[in-house]
Amino acid sequence: MNYFQSFQEVKPDPILGLAAKYKKDPNPNKINLTIGVYKSEEAQIALFRSVHEAEKLIWDEKLNKGYPPIDGTAEFKEELIKLVAPEQDAKHFYIAHTVGATSALRLSGELMKQMGIENIFFSDLTWPNHPHVFKNAGLKTFTFPYYNASSHELEIEAIYKALNDIPEKSAVLFQMSCHNPTGMDPNKEQWTQIIQIIKDKNIFPIIDCAYQGFGQGLQEDVLAFKLLMEQVDQAIVCYSCAKNFGLYGERVGALIAFDKSKKSLENLGQNARVTIRGNYSTPPIHGARIVKTILQSQELSQVWSEELTKMRLRVKELRQDFLKSLEQKNIPIDFKHIIKDQGLFSLLALPKDAILKLREEFGVYILDNGRINIAGLCQKNMEAVTSSIQKVINHNV
Ligand SMILES: Cc1ncc(COP(=O)(O)O)c(C=O)c1O
Repeated sequence: MNYFQSFQEVKPDPILGLAAKYKKDPNPNKINLTIGVYKSEEAQIALFRSVHEAEKLIWDEKLNKGYPPIDGTAEFKEELIKLVAPEQDAKHFYIAHTVGATSALRLSGELMKQMGIENIFFSDLTWPNHPHVFKNAGLKTFTFPYYNASSHELEIEAIYKALNDIPEKSAVLFQMSCHNPTGMDPNKEQWTQIIQIIKDKNIFPIIDCAYQGFGQGLQEDVLAFKLLMEQVDQAIVCYSCAKNFGLYGERVGALIAFDKSKKSLENLGQNARVTIRGNYSTPPIHGARIVKTILQSQELSQVWSEELTKMRLRVKELRQDFLKSLEQKNIPIDFKHIIKDQGLFSLLALPKDAILKLREEFGVYILDNGRINIAGLCQKNMEAVTSSIQKVINHNV
């Protein structure tokens, strides 16, 4: 019996599948603008100086590599909560250090299932792994309208309407800031309205926070959680330290559960630990040690937040330069939204065949839906990207 032959055929992941294709592409001038990572002016993934300094301190401490507790070490969690909810008393939270935000999302899905939630709604479009993660956790997945691709605006009235129509026993997932893939987030008034509906309809809120610091600033980027905690009794944030510490491969994240009354935190924690134990057992230690070391040190956190600010401002400049270069090429597509969008991504309104041609004929890789990682651009590759777009659109190459 060939057991392995009985697998059904599945499609590769739309982001990591393209990364593999990019790797195999022999084109010496290829440019990868698919995966959401911050790259330096040399088009390399940036190593934060604060991370390097923290690693030196950890090295000197000669710590052993024993297993951490199932839901991570207290020191890491104490520091993280100060970053995500600085004005709240830590006693209102249960935190599990997880294997990146992805496993926090999966854990949240399994916990919601145990809580009796059946459905989860997320924006159309969203990070393509969201449906996958929550289906695997046993939830039914649905979308709500989010973005108007012609006007490059949020479909805000449609969002309110969809939330009002959500059935009982449902959760809704929003992204905290720097929405992936559109770069468009609700403003303060819109968040307030969204949260009011979440409260009125008794919908369980999940917030995916993968880009804190890349939008407006560290505190500004967690405004939605602050507003949420003022109104609702319970919520979960799934947090990633991948982008804002440059710790992608270290897999550092957290599930952060807020309970206004604090009454259910112990029970929740017990269920979370049992669920984690049956999944990956314990989280990886090194990345969390780096984050903890940075956040515990006044000097290193200062260095880190300055590094992050520089990155945020550089991405904003890249947006300006990208738009300018596109506009000089008289391409008959509206790209103005690029400078309004926030974070790493924008959604370019390019036809599907143009996206394919960009990839196959010019080695310029963006996602099939037009998502471009602005933080993968640099002065060296900008002209090649915009002139390739000009060729595929204006000259139909
Ligand atoms: C919106 C969103 N959530 C979660 C993640 C995954 O984060 P992590 O690498 O920490 O699992 C990403 C990564 O691209 C993301 O864009």
